[in-house]
Amino acid sequence: MLIKADQSIPSSEITPQSAYLNRRRFIGAAGIASAAMLAGCEPAVGSATGAGKLDYRKVDKQGGDGFYTDESLTPFEDVTRYNNFYEFGTDKSDPARLADSFAVAPWSVSIEGEVSKPGTYTLEDILKPHALEERIYRLRCVEAWSMVVPWVGFPLADLIARFEPNSKARFVQFTTLYDPKRLPGQASPFSTIDWPYVEGLRMDEAMNPLTLVAVGLYGKELLPQNGAPLRLVVPWKYGFKSIKSIVKIRFTERQPGTTWEKLSPREYGFYANVNPAVDHPRWSQKHERRLPTSLWNPSRIETRPFNGYQEQVAHLYQGMDLQRYY
Ligand code: MTE
Repeated sequence: MLIKADQSIPSSEITPQSAYLNRRRFIGAAGIASAAMLAGCEPAVGSATGAGKLDYRKVDKQGGDGFYTDESLTPFEDVTRYNNFYEFGTDKSDPARLADSFAVAPWSVSIEGEVSKPGTYTLEDILKPHALEERIYRLRCVEAWSMVVPWVGFPLADLIARFEPNSKARFVQFTTLYDPKRLPGQASPFSTIDWPYVEGLRMDEAMNPLTLVAVGLYGKELLPQNGAPLRLVVPWKYGFKSIKSIVKIRFTERQPGTTWEKLSPREYGFYANVNPAVDHPRWSQKHERRLPTSLWNPSRIETRPFNGYQEQVAHLYQGMDLQRYY
């Protein structure tokens, strides 16, 4: 992964949220569903890009299930302007700058492999049965910076159950949209990534209650730079597992290939569990910079095993050598 020295985002680079939202006329996925029902017509989900308001259940702060943290939220401006989305470029500011006109409608997701209900589903089909809820998660990038993000979404387990995976389905692979005309990073002659971006989870990881299909953050629909219209959030793993703008979900018997592991297996493993005891070959993973940072406030904190979600997920890896399966 390309690593750059962390820089705080200069305020001149930050578009006020109001100006940002004005540029977009968006109809929210769940919000519009209720509005459309009132109007007696089909919900028109994802008909443009932008940040329509969502209807969702607020996170239960007493839950003790890992769905909530009272750590300070990373401001909306940082979450939406300091991004890794190599399809738009390798600089942290490229996605927000270049994804502005990226339209996410129409959108469909193809369900393939070891399931009894394969097929191509529209975004509306995918989202319709799921009530949205808030989750406040830590996001720890392998590059040693982190954020706290209030996501809106629904459990991946609920989506998977609808397609009825069979007993051969031991892994699930996710694929991001491939469209070099709209995703300039995919057309770049300098890119070393074998597009499209792919990621994978073991079935029990995919079914864990923490694993989220996110459609929004800060109560609004995802902006393209954060992976609209739908992405994964796997909070105990390095951020690269949280694949954006998903168009394909494939259930497999064998462990699928994943983008960063294919590119540099010594540096990026399939599991990619946050682990301060296993350094990246080129840098330490013992600490992280919690955004926003500045010259005067480097905001350096200790990294926790499984990003602090041991209680929820450590049992998934019992008996595994995590130095070997990094
Ligand atoms: N998904 C795709 N398709 N392409 C990417 O480049 N980057 C990953 C992940 N998902 C990436 C992706 C990395 S390295 C991180 S840290 C997170 O997205 C960043 O998510 P954010 O930009 O919403 O904070």
